[in-house]
Amino acid sequence: MNGLLAGKVIIVTGAGGGIGKASALLFALEGASVVATGRTDETVAEVADEIRKAGGKCIGLRVDVAVGADCGLMVETAVKSFGRLDGAFNNAGIDGPIAPAADYPEAAFDEVIAINLKGIWNCMRFQIPAMLATGGGAIVNNASALSEVGQFGMVGYCASKAGVLGLTRAAALDYGAQGVRVNALSPGVVETPMMTSQMNSYPDLRGMLLARHPIGRLGAPEELAEAAAWMLSDRSKFMLGANVSVDGGYAAF
Ligand SMILES: NC(=O)c1ccc[n+]([C@@H]2O[C@H](COP(=O)([O-])OP(=O)(O)OC[C@H]3O[C@@H](n4cnc5c(N)ncnc54)[C@H](O)[C@@H]3O)[C@@H](O)[C@H]2O)c1
Repeated sequence: MNGLLAGKVIIVTGAGGGIGKASALLFALEGASVVATGRTDETVAEVADEIRKAGGKCIGLRVDVAVGADCGLMVETAVKSFGRLDGAFNNAGIDGPIAPAADYPEAAFDEVIAINLKGIWNCMRFQIPAMLATGGGAIVNNASALSEVGQFGMVGYCASKAGVLGLTRAAALDYGAQGVRVNALSPGVVETPMMTSQMNSYPDLRGMLLARHPIGRLGAPEELAEAAAWMLSDRSKFMLGANVSVDGGYAAF
């Protein structure tokens, strides 16, 4: 590893599995001190342990991004443990149920918005002041290829991810000149626990999704981690308010 993130302190949300776990591991191997957060104590402890065993610096913390106080504590813990905050990959998210828009359950709609959309704002409203205190930083919000197109039965998810782009662009304008860069990453379909469980529930889904990826395959969590690492590094320092598609051609289709 070449130390792309050497010396940086970076938070990852939803680091218990999938894209978040692969990212926490890569960031640590690239030299960052990582605060790996997720919904359960056991999962984040396991991930942090795995990263330390691989030679990285990491602490695990239980954080529900839908809860503002949890996000405040997350940033406080990063600063107390490592002295500063340079980067954040706001990745935690859920897919929600599949149902036509008018039948979509109200409680599920509220939950998807609370985690996928308000959760990102909850993270940023504590991360940004911490970054400003030491001269700036970089935030990557995990959106989706579905942030710019619709998908049958996914009104909650599509609305939340389109909203992530709005939050990202507005915050980028608010803080770009002060050195905090906010950008969004939009993955295509990636083989993670979230997608595997969806593909297991709907037998035709894998084939349908593959057909939407001109590259001819689905993504791997590590491929998204690579993009996020670059977006959090100083090598992307002119990038502000962008939506970066890493999706095997999904958005180009
Ligand atoms: N896998 C894909 O195909 C795909 C495609 C586009 C976008 N994404 C986005 O990537 C992100 C990661 O997804 P993934 O596929 O790795 O899924 P995943 O289910 O493997 O990981 C999501 C993680 O977020 C955590 N999480 C859920 N709710 C949370 C909450 N309230 N607080 C804190 N953590 C919470 C989960 O526990 C889990 O560890 C999500 O935002 C998802 O929408 C995934």
